[in-house]
Amino acid sequence: MTEKRKIAVLISGNGSNLQAIIDAANQPDFLAQIALVISNEADAHGLERAKQAGIATEVISHIGHALREDFDRKMHAALLAANVEFVCLAGFMRLLTPWFINQWPNKLINIHPSLLPAFKGTHAIEQAFDAGVKVTGCTVHFVRPQMDAGPIIAQSAIDILDDDTLHSVAERMHEAEHALYPEVINWLAGERIDVTNERVTIHRLTH
Ligand code: GRF
Repeated sequence: MTEKRKIAVLISGNGSNLQAIIDAANQPDFLAQIALVISNEADAHGLERAKQAGIATEVISHIGHALREDFDRKMHAALLAANVEFVCLAGFMRLLTPWFINQWPNKLINIHPSLLPAFKGTHAIEQAFDAGVKVTGCTVHFVRPQMDAGPIIAQSAIDILDDDTLHSVAERMHEAEHALYPEVINWLAGERIDVTNERVTIHRLTH
């Protein structure tokens, strides 16, 4: 079997998407392995999930840097030291500098809990719920310097039903995220994603 591609996952909190990636990566046919988890928060629950799975972790606090780029340079150094090819943001709550983003051209992805370009920013599930939309969902996209922008790789829609609460929508959203994100990472590791003129094409398997 060919060697799995090394990825890093950047988190700030619970890490349920990280857990979905860990579980997927345990499958023999998954093409990526998590070489490093970085959190900017020392008490992120996702760090425990990584440790449970025997994955290397680093805490790099965003506090105490003169410049935002200094924090990003520290993370970049850790990513290079871990020899990763791809970086996946999974509930990472810091805006990255253009400098950092440019180090990872089409190798840095994010998952966002809305059907972008609708409902960018924080509390996206709540924004959609409050707006009364009947369909929302999650988006995996390449990261660009503008927040929650960048070429869309894949989306998964969920209905918002009449008897839904914010909580029930959030639950369904997370289920959708946990299915979609590992799948996209597998495509990335399998070099099935092309970006031309900021539009994404996925090469489907023909067999
Ligand atoms: C997810 O909803 C993700 O889309 C957003 O932040 C949340 C992270 O949740 N970017 P978790 O830490 O993976 O549980």
